[in-house]
Amino acid sequence: MDKLVIEGGLPLTGSIEINGSKNAALPILFASILHTESLSLLNVPNLRDIHTALKLLNLLGCVCEYQNGRVTVVPGTLLSAAPYDLVKTMRASVLCLGPLLARTGQACVAKPGGCAIGVRPVDQHLKGLESMGARFELVEGYILGRCRKLHGARITFDMPTVGGTENLLMAAVSAEGETILENAAREPEVVDLANFLIACGGRIEGQGTSRIRVVGPSVLRGVEYPVMQDRIEAGTFLVAAGITGGELLLRNCPVDALDALILKLRDMGMEISETPDGVLARCTRPLRCVDVTTKPYPGFPTDMQAQIMALMCLAEGAGVIEESIFENRFLHASELERMGANIRISGHTATVRGTRRLTGAPVMASDLRGAASLVLAGLAASGTTEISRVYHLDRGYEKMEEKLARVGARIRREKETANP
Ligand code: UD1
Repeated sequence: MDKLVIEGGLPLTGSIEINGSKNAALPILFASILHTESLSLLNVPNLRDIHTALKLLNLLGCVCEYQNGRVTVVPGTLLSAAPYDLVKTMRASVLCLGPLLARTGQACVAKPGGCAIGVRPVDQHLKGLESMGARFELVEGYILGRCRKLHGARITFDMPTVGGTENLLMAAVSAEGETILENAAREPEVVDLANFLIACGGRIEGQGTSRIRVVGPSVLRGVEYPVMQDRIEAGTFLVAAGITGGELLLRNCPVDALDALILKLRDMGMEISETPDGVLARCTRPLRCVDVTTKPYPGFPTDMQAQIMALMCLAEGAGVIEESIFENRFLHASELERMGANIRISGHTATVRGTRRLTGAPVMASDLRGAASLVLAGLAASGTTEISRVYHLDRGYEKMEEKLARVGARIRREKETANP
């Protein structure tokens, strides 16, 4: 296993290129199950989760290849089983359920378990697909789904679920008749999936609003499609500029998808501006704490909660962070406290009191965005921070340490030595 070693305290300056979005690429990859023609996706980040998805697609019968950000998918004879070994390493594997049912009339997908940040049920995915004619049973940890032919339906989600909306959107494109998704997720990644499906011939309207209308069935044609840029990677680097008191230019930054975060960072005292070359983030004075509540898009993203917490640890005053999406998403707080942060957790709320300095310490990552918050804290802390279990970080950030080193961070990857 690898660890990251950071000698903190240096302001970061320079420019960073933002990658394609993991969370947009994953559902688009699974949508390829719906295709009978080959397709190419561009701007696909080189990440562990992406390779897990490609492995799963290959197991299901598609022939996928990854080269320099380009994925080609050649459809083959589809199998319908997604094994637990893969699903347990990446919950987004459940996104093959809707497309498999739509294409083959059956699906056998390992039921994703909970994960470090919460229980994360998939009841909304199943209820929606049931309304479209699928029947499910749980057999030895596997969701077995069957249908004769999916048909359109009117589905109202109990909460806006990103994965649920994506699964049903993919199913609806191939289902017979009209599907209306109410209380749909509005995240930019859902919009990117809808735009991809439209480019392939799908009939979809309302993406980006909470009511999406799909008319099926459409036979999807093969296209070449560039995946959107990663707003969470970009957001993490904006915070990196703030926490180190530096100046970073983010090239290819999906600024429109970052409104809620940018508003908060400006409230804290950061200067963020759009330039012809990208988004420029600067921090020239002490920041102050703010209150943050995570919400579905266009609210403040839960995937940026851990990073803004790290930033607030070094800001003036106190701020309250309320996590309203996932029930257990403060695991990074106790690790930040090991570095000297002052955070009090009570249920879904974290009260952060800023301190003047953090000090480097050995810390452990326990989820993807929590890992990013520890990197950010390490960049600002005095002394050496060693972050273990960086495989969490590698699921969602491509070459993060190389990008940070190029803008002045002292950061390196090392093999973790086994315990004596
Ligand atoms: C996606 C993102 C993840 C992000 C999250 C919220 C991907 C691969 N992952 O996860 O990074 O943090 O959106 O923005 O895109 N829920 C149910 N029943 C369901 C489905 C969801 O109760 O059937 C609940 C969840 O437990 C959670 C909330 O709804 O509390 C939102 O979850 P959801 O939007 O579905 O998250 P994911 O799609 O899993």
